[in-house]
Amino acid sequence: MAILVCGGAGYIGPHTVHQLIEKGEDVIIVDNLQHGHRGALNPKAKFYEGDIRDYEVLDKIFTENKIEAVIHFCAYIEAGESVQKPLKYFNNNVYGMQVLLESMVKHKVDKIVFSSTAAVYGEPQKIPIEETDQTKPINPYGETKLMMEKIMHWVSRADGINYVSLRYFNAAGAIDDGSIGEDHHPETHLIPLILQVPLGKRDHITIFGDDYDTPDGTCIRDYIHVLDLADAHVLAVEYLRKGGKSDAFNLGSGKGFSVKEMIEAAKKVTGKDIKVEMGARRPGDPARLIASSDKARKVLGWNPKYTDVEVVIKTAWNWHQKHPNGYEA
Ligand code: UFG
Repeated sequence: MAILVCGGAGYIGPHTVHQLIEKGEDVIIVDNLQHGHRGALNPKAKFYEGDIRDYEVLDKIFTENKIEAVIHFCAYIEAGESVQKPLKYFNNNVYGMQVLLESMVKHKVDKIVFSSTAAVYGEPQKIPIEETDQTKPINPYGETKLMMEKIMHWVSRADGINYVSLRYFNAAGAIDDGSIGEDHHPETHLIPLILQVPLGKRDHITIFGDDYDTPDGTCIRDYIHVLDLADAHVLAVEYLRKGGKSDAFNLGSGKGFSVKEMIEAAKKVTGKDIKVEMGARRPGDPARLIASSDKARKVLGWNPKYTDVEVVIKTAWNWHQKHPNGYEA
């Protein structure tokens, strides 16, 4: 029986495929390559190029293969863009989930692990954030992910599908050998943008606001290594195999770092100066997001290994140095 990874050519998808294959799993990938990269595909996995909103694509995959479980990474992820183009997000994310679940029900596949996000919480009411805290997204992106969770909830009750929803905080870093990593177009994430300065691809990094209610005035985030995230998916599949009940789990390090602290850490890792400019706040950025991942540790047995933020940045630096133009290089 194989595991179908939807969106296996993006960032977290290929790292998860790698960990699954290391564990001896049989992996099938479907990706429309709109934001995914052919170079990120694992040669040991069978690949279908196609869109999960296409019933025929999924029918073909579920008919040609014996699929035991699905791991679902396909989504648009830009919070800022989602405010400008909400319908684009509802179509790809929410309708994509609809078609995927219909196909799973039709083909009697009853396990799904889903890429959710800290954005489902919106502005947190307390730190660290726990899974039982209020979910009140402040942008369409977070809203689509919450809706996708809710669709899974109702379908699980009606159609016997069991799900694990993994709410990632800030995914960071790359596999240790630098063979796969983060490559978004356009890039909006903090760590790759900081590292573009020592790479010589950007003159400076702009800090989006230094008047937040935090010790140094810049936003605090919980950066979690992509391989630790990947391991959580492997554990989630095992949990569902053992009959674990449908549930949502936060995935974060439990430690927060400010934008300024991340820039200082990147200076240490790269050994280069990084020019900084101060800019305005980016709309929709909460001051502080830090996860409580106690539930994932207790229930899934998750134990993140990359606990030092400099080591996390080092793995990203290794990837970017080897692939200054991402997968195009
Ligand atoms: N930032 C800057 N300058 C930049 C880029 C980012 O100061 O050039 C700041 C942002 O304002 C924010 C922090 O760096 O305070 C991190 O920003 P990212 O864009 O790297 O990440 P976000 O926290 O905005 O978002 C990430 C994922 C989302 C997910 C969210 C959940 O990209 O998909 O975490 O917490 F929803």
